Amino acid sequence: MGFEKNILCIGAGYVGGPTMAMIAHKCPQYRVTVVDINPKRIAAWNSGTLPIYEPGLDEIVKEARGRNLFFSDRIDQGIQEADIIFVSVNTPTKDFGAGAGMAADLQYWEKTARQIREVSRSQKIIVEKSTFPVKTALAMERILTATANGVRFDILSNPEFMAEGTGIRDLEYPDRVLIGSRETPEGLTARDELVEIYANWVPQERIITSNIWSSELSKLVSNAFLAQRISSINAVSSLCEKTEADITEVARIIGMDSRLGDKFLNASIGFGGSCFKKDILSLVYMCRQYGLDEVAAYWEGVVRINDYQKERFVLNMLETMFNTLAAKRICLFGFAFKANTGDTRESPAIYVSRRLLEERAELVITDPRALVNAEADLADVQGQVTFAEDPYEAAVGCDAIAVMTEWDIYAAMDFTRIYETMRKPAFIFDGRNILNHEDLFTMGFNVFPIGKPPLTHFC
Ligand code: NAD
Ligand code: UGA
Repeated sequence: MGFEKNILCIGAGYVGGPTMAMIAHKCPQYRVTVVDINPKRIAAWNSGTLPIYEPGLDEIVKEARGRNLFFSDRIDQGIQEADIIFVSVNTPTKDFGAGAGMAADLQYWEKTARQIREVSRSQKIIVEKSTFPVKTALAMERILTATANGVRFDILSNPEFMAEGTGIRDLEYPDRVLIGSRETPEGLTARDELVEIYANWVPQERIITSNIWSSELSKLVSNAFLAQRISSINAVSSLCEKTEADITEVARIIGMDSRLGDKFLNASIGFGGSCFKKDILSLVYMCRQYGLDEVAAYWEGVVRINDYQKERFVLNMLETMFNTLAAKRICLFGFAFKANTGDTRESPAIYVSRRLLEERAELVITDPRALVNAEADLADVQGQVTFAEDPYEAAVGCDAIAVMTEWDIYAAMDFTRIYETMRKPAFIFDGRNILNHEDLFTMGFNVFPIGKPPLTHFC
């Protein structure tokens, strides 16, 4: 069967895989191919066990795969056949040279742009799907047009706003789809072609177009604002703990102001995930490059509060458990950076684990989806950590449980049974405020939520 368009995505990761699966699912008239330099990842996408866990993903991949959705490691061929190429490679924080620890590492997209230029024989639209510093599109244009081989490229910015764990719903019913373009006749034509793809399932009023720099910047700023909200509520949680105010009540009260809204106000052990920290640091670095030091310092504060929140959690455990954690057995409930994903990138649980080990605690880690990643994250301290699938078994003989991830299963567990198997006094540190603290206290636990008065049996 002939397809209306050939769409290629370079980068088969957490974004490339699900976004392309959604396009293929909604648009059987297009042929969608996803390529990657990592053949193992491609093999997993072609197998019965996909490389990432995302609710609803299996169903749409299995429905479209082999029909109009293909995963392949033949990148050159994919480029040659494509009309539209989404670039969804990783843009991690640079860990070498100038800007190390702050700037985005742009080597992956740069390599991709050069490869596109070298093998292309026909006109293409190149879509920035990854999150990039502002003006990356300009650099991309310069690379793509550096040799006059007569092939025309139009660059668009189409940042992705999906969140892991709710990715499929976010892709199917997005708050908005953003498409930035050059405001030239060719740029606007390319933009309309991408609008046409999304219009297959996204209502027109949710497809927003803008100039290309606004689009690049809006993605970074969206993540910065979201992360800022978490740091704000977490900063207030520390004040609640000093004043006997309750963060859940405070969040509810401020969230009822329609100007503020009630979402993203859950106090926690801190935000994790592959993007918030790296995107804020990229923003901070960019501000400094433009000489905007005050602005840079403002945004850097969001990351600083997040680091403070994680350390505060560990110090609270230490102080509460009689100022020594040496040889205490502590069970972490959850390791993923949030519920409904197996992703552990930048998970606060990594920091907490390492700090607890520094204090010479013994660690037991349980998580319904993230144990493989957890073992890889802690490979260098192998032998000092036990991993257990069953949370009941994990808690046996422990002095404390610390909730790291807000998985529903934890709130539904039989804590009377758990209490019986633990060492006494038994502690619970609820880093997500998902448990019933009064009930736990009545069972005998000493309970330490985030941003609420603790419930202890000590006089
Ligand atoms: P990822 O690491 O899961 O996937 C990136 C993939 O690109 C990897 O599989 C890697 O092998 C591949 N790759 C790198 N260089 C390549 C090359 N030259 N040719 C072919 N493949 C190459 O990353 P991700 O989480 O999917 O994120 C990708 C981008 O999307 C980042 O810029 C991120 O900031 C942004 N983003 C991520 C999310 C999210 O939920 N993870 C959401 C919105 C935006
Ligand atoms: C985030 C954004 O929400 C997406 O819009 C964006 O596309 C994505 O980053 C990205 O660019 O990668 P994600 O990191 O997958 O998505 O998940 P979030 O739901 O934003 O959660 C991030 C972290 O904040 C998690 O650790 C979560 O537990 C924490 N969080 C979230 C809180 O501590 N409190 C809250 O109220 C909300």
